[in-house]
Amino acid sequence: MKTNRKEFIKASTLLGLGTLTLGIDKAFSADPKANSAALDILPVSGKFELAPLPYAFNALEPFIDAQTMEIHHGKHHQAYVNKLNEALAMEPSLQGKSLEDLLLNLSSLPENVRSMVRNHGGGHWNHSFFWKSLKIGTQVGPKFTEMANKSFGSVAQFKANFEKLATGIFGSGWAWLVLQDGQLKIMTSANQDNPLMDAGKDKNRVPKIILGLDVWEHAYYLKHKNKRADYVSSFWNVVNWDEIEALLK
Ligand SMILES: [Fe+2]
Repeated sequence: MKTNRKEFIKASTLLGLGTLTLGIDKAFSADPKANSAALDILPVSGKFELAPLPYAFNALEPFIDAQTMEIHHGKHHQAYVNKLNEALAMEPSLQGKSLEDLLLNLSSLPENVRSMVRNHGGGHWNHSFFWKSLKIGTQVGPKFTEMANKSFGSVAQFKANFEKLATGIFGSGWAWLVLQDGQLKIMTSANQDNPLMDAGKDKNRVPKIILGLDVWEHAYYLKHKNKRADYVSSFWNVVNWDEIEALLK
């Protein structure tokens, strides 16, 4: 994540997001298992499982099509779960740990499974979080509005900044909204990395992830083809703002 943090700071400067400040953030639960339970990703008998989508494949139509959702969840997400389990089968000492535990302490994992946990464990966490971020028909809430005004100047400016960074990610990756040091920040990551990775080194500054957007082509290509910007701008129609309010409280 070092490169991504560097990119974030650079982007922050470019977009006038302000300088990173030090402080105490208690947003992320001290108990990683509580976070895994909330995402329904605790391992069962040492193995991770793919939870069903919390809605029908066509629930996000017309903004995200049913076929994309079916393939994205049933094929791509399932593959991350399978490969993560393959990695953990190689290292029984890691079995039973929550996914947050693994990601927060990624660098300390045995080298033979580290990149597999990074890619496939990251993929499992990111997609599990993503599905819960999506719903049609919710409205931006008061807590988010207050915090976006403080961190970005306005909700509209937050959206503009987020769209610019998400659209500009080179290759596959994710755009994130996180709460850290008492303020909202936009981050980006390559591949299936996320802001939790190795964040356990500084337990007082573990970012709480509020929103994530998958900008891998598999998330939008069937509907939007190569036009990532169209996918990103239509994302606001399916953001579950109720979930965001809950995460901020
Ligand atoms: Fe994806």
